[in-house]
Amino acid sequence: MARRRNLPPVTQAQATAPASVYRDPARYDAERRRVFGRSWLFMGHESELPREGDVVAATIAGYPLLVARTGGALKAFHNVCRHRAGPLFDQERGNCGGSLTCKYHGWIYTLDGRLRNARDFGVAAGFDPRDFPLFGLKVETWRGFVFVNIDSEAPALADTLAPLDKRVGARDLMRLVHTDRRTHDIACNWKIYVENYLEGYHIPLVHQGLSAEVDALKYEVHVEGEVCFHYAPVKAAADNAIYDGLWAFAQPHLGINVYGDGLMMERMLPIGLNLTRLVYDYYLVPEIADDERERHRIMAMSGTVTAEDRWICERVQANIEAGVYQAGVFSPKHEQGVAWFQNYVAGALDAPG
Ligand code: FES
Ligand SMILES: [Fe+2]
Repeated sequence: MARRRNLPPVTQAQATAPASVYRDPARYDAERRRVFGRSWLFMGHESELPREGDVVAATIAGYPLLVARTGGALKAFHNVCRHRAGPLFDQERGNCGGSLTCKYHGWIYTLDGRLRNARDFGVAAGFDPRDFPLFGLKVETWRGFVFVNIDSEAPALADTLAPLDKRVGARDLMRLVHTDRRTHDIACNWKIYVENYLEGYHIPLVHQGLSAEVDALKYEVHVEGEVCFHYAPVKAAADNAIYDGLWAFAQPHLGINVYGDGLMMERMLPIGLNLTRLVYDYYLVPEIADDERERHRIMAMSGTVTAEDRWICERVQANIEAGVYQAGVFSPKHEQGVAWFQNYVAGALDAPG
């Protein structure tokens, strides 16, 4: 896939993407298919589906997707029935009881995707249930975290996340447990939120609490393949800091926010042209998972930062819609990550096929 384009570092005045990329419905539709339809998409952690028949489901950029455990392995499918497109599983997670039954007319599929029973269908010459298996997805795991890919030709997840794996190093992510999920809706195009996530330039102005914890002057961003890293040293004076100072972002929409006691997976889900849903999944070490107070302290911190980011991203979206702004210019010191992301999306849209 010719998706990766060489990106020279920003060293001279370079224009940002035009305002139209945040406003054009055709562009949004192309991003769904060509960016999200070809990237590894985070679905959860293996510990969320330990037993036969356990399922996690999510709708990502309009694609309803599910992962099921069967025979000890994970299988993934579009959450779309082959009869007339009904849904097969309508919770975020749970147990399906060993097969997937469509909620519309009750067709039943095995967990490896075969149509086992077309309920009360009648006799139709030439109808062969073998012609109607579920639409399968690639599914792979990284340190217990489960990802799917709609593109059957996608490169291995391990290759995509190799830079992240190196940086995470000896931290033991396998023992983390899922403790909480929080969602936040933001009235902006998904790329406005992602781009905001990819720079620390705004921290001293937008996040005063965070500024007190991390040294924004020493904030560094660098990109490696399809992963971007932020590093901000925790201030020596910060007492009881939550952040461990490592933030990573995997294309096209996953933030990996590492804490001293676990991490938070942050999906930035496009819901529509002007609406983005953040889904925060918290995974903590078992000792902290049972500590209600500490869990709430961690979630309160990310809730404050998110409220601040929501405020600025919604103002930016409104200003872009006003139609005055056409394009801006990247800071070579702070916005290498934003340039990298814009280049990735543009490359995905330009790729053949
Ligand atoms: S749409 Fe699934 S059984 Fe009809
Ligand atoms: Fe922010």
